[in-house]
Amino acid sequence: MPATVVVGGFFGDEGKGKIISYLALKDKPAIAVRGGVGPNAGHTFVLNGEVHKVRMLPSALLSKETRLLIGAGVLINPEVLLNEIEQYNAHDRVFIDSQCGIIESRHIEMDNSDDLKGRIGTTGSGTGPANADRARRTLHLAREMNEFTLYLDDVSNSINFALDRNENVLVEGTQGTFLSLYHGTYPYVTSKDVTASSICADVGLGPKRVDEVLLVFKAYVTRVGVGSLENEISKEEAKKRGWFEVATVTRRERRAAPFNFELAKKAISLNSATHLAITKLDVMFPECAHVHVYDKLSDNAKHFIEQVEKNTGLQVALIGTGEDVYDTIDMR
Ligand code: IMP
Ligand code: MG
Repeated sequence: MPATVVVGGFFGDEGKGKIISYLALKDKPAIAVRGGVGPNAGHTFVLNGEVHKVRMLPSALLSKETRLLIGAGVLINPEVLLNEIEQYNAHDRVFIDSQCGIIESRHIEMDNSDDLKGRIGTTGSGTGPANADRARRTLHLAREMNEFTLYLDDVSNSINFALDRNENVLVEGTQGTFLSLYHGTYPYVTSKDVTASSICADVGLGPKRVDEVLLVFKAYVTRVGVGSLENEISKEEAKKRGWFEVATVTRRERRAAPFNFELAKKAISLNSATHLAITKLDVMFPECAHVHVYDKLSDNAKHFIEQVEKNTGLQVALIGTGEDVYDTIDMR
């Protein structure tokens, strides 16, 4: 901190939600601000056995003193957002940019068509068609919606002024680097760029104001939907290794592959990452479950972390060793 951007290094589902909620509870930033595409994201985190899933609000919401903002580049599904605000009783600390785009039911219908959900394997949440309307300059914005009057804000001003006051700002990315419309595995990608530069643009933060870019990798690679996945293993093999997962938003099965050093290096340069987080180390090395100190990791696990650091030249600053937010080794 002060301005930290958190982004995903593979195809989404790297465990950004857990890492962000850990950072939020630990560092208590004045502001957490959501960039990224919209409710196609599903961020899951677990605290004391309680499972939280958010699609619109920042994953920092467990830090009660943190204001929760949504940047102008993010698409809003009004029903999903209002439900999450209600669920977390966050009425007085949620602010959305007046220029956030609004997803309508016709966008969701279009996104569930054979052309999008069928051909591309989209999440069906309406984000692609809504961004297409935004490019056509026909999309409705949050400022036109009566139910949002109380929440409207100039998010870019709020975060820039907070940084002027030397307050900490946590910028939350969604999806993952190789789902980027520009740098990903086109056409099997999401409807926007999702690298750190775009996440900053989404919230209205210029490139010189960012101090840290934390790139999150899972200890293995997963991807939902269609598109290339190098060294993909079979579902049976994934189940045997404990790598088999089901998606948060769509309940679809995730495909799996081993950690990919080439992709990791490319992601580091696309995002100008300053340090790394590795999640689910306990899935690769079960003996490491719930370990909170680096020295207590097994030799195999340490060797893997050292390989990542040696190959990338960056420090692994955070390691996830279990599903609880506090199952985290913090080496910052
Ligand atoms: P869309 O973003 O719904 O248009 O879907 C485009 C592609 O991105 C599909 O392969 C989705 O499965 C994938 N995708 C979008 N959001 C996420 C996410 O949050 N996690 C993982 N995959 C995602
Ligand atoms: Mg997810």
